[in-house]
Amino acid sequence: MTHQFPALTSVQKRELQDIALGIVAPGKGILAADESVGSMGKCLHQIGVENTEENRRQFRQILFSADERIKSCIGGVIFFHETLYQQADDGTLFVKMIQDKGITVGIKVDKGIVPLAGTNGVSTSQGLDGLSERCAQYKKDGANFAKWRCVFKISDATPSTLSIKENANVLARYSSICQQHGIVPIVEPEILPDGDHDLRRCQYVTEKVLAALYKAMSDHHVYLEGTLLKPNMATAGNRCSTKYSAEEVAMATVTALCRTVPPAVTGVLFLSGGQSEEEASVNLNAINKCPLVKHWGLTFSYGRALQASALKTWCGHNQNEDAATEQFIKRAEACTFFLNA
Ligand code: 13P
Repeated sequence: MTHQFPALTSVQKRELQDIALGIVAPGKGILAADESVGSMGKCLHQIGVENTEENRRQFRQILFSADERIKSCIGGVIFFHETLYQQADDGTLFVKMIQDKGITVGIKVDKGIVPLAGTNGVSTSQGLDGLSERCAQYKKDGANFAKWRCVFKISDATPSTLSIKENANVLARYSSICQQHGIVPIVEPEILPDGDHDLRRCQYVTEKVLAALYKAMSDHHVYLEGTLLKPNMATAGNRCSTKYSAEEVAMATVTALCRTVPPAVTGVLFLSGGQSEEEASVNLNAINKCPLVKHWGLTFSYGRALQASALKTWCGHNQNEDAATEQFIKRAEACTFFLNA
């Protein structure tokens, strides 16, 4: 226990940190466009569009064809496996379209949530088997960062100690594997907003989950400067009767981070977790204005909060594609504006 066996050279460490720093450069965040086939199906269903590979491609094309204006707002785009190998109408690989704008390409590598048998509904995420080989291939195919998502539900009995430990461990194992391949791991321990819990309870659970995560990251020798954190904001459950201001959400969120996230971590990018586009921007603004000392860039890695208006505007009709792309650009610009305001 007294010796260190370095896993990464100083050149590898420098590469990882540079990738992470580029993604969270001032004013920039991430577009999470890595919905699995099933999750994308739910989005398309809302607008009455069939969940086919072609329709998924069409919608991704609407986002990825955004012009130069998003260069200053978006530092990274998270792809789903299928999308990494898809092309625009003119034959250009989506990966190339993103890279040509100077934006870093990332890939979701977990293989989804599975229940932990014998528990009261808690879960883990699978996908470690073969991850090293997949990372090696993804790196060759243009991905420089990855994402792995774990979820926790708040109830009287959850998250359990077992689920906090198991998910922390799987996130740390994934991180160490990614780093061996020059891929920056984003760790996403998402506490779902479902439930009637208040803001304090969410903050408390967030602290417990993050504290366990960074203990596991240390145990697994993860190079923290070459990682990014994608947490939930601390918010009350969506059935909570008390309403909290953006300033209260911000104070609870930043307090939880200050208590648990080492300053060595290069950046924190919040998920939007079902918040409306407006709410996600306003909360992000309050978080950045929160008067506590913050050791990391605090920005966005939004899925729904960057795509909802674009999806609604598109509705599956070719003639709406340009207007839908404009909606996405508008949201990305608003997030950046709120970061700096
Ligand atoms: P939302 O911002 O829609 O929560 O999605 C972010 C994400 O990547 C979830 O894994």
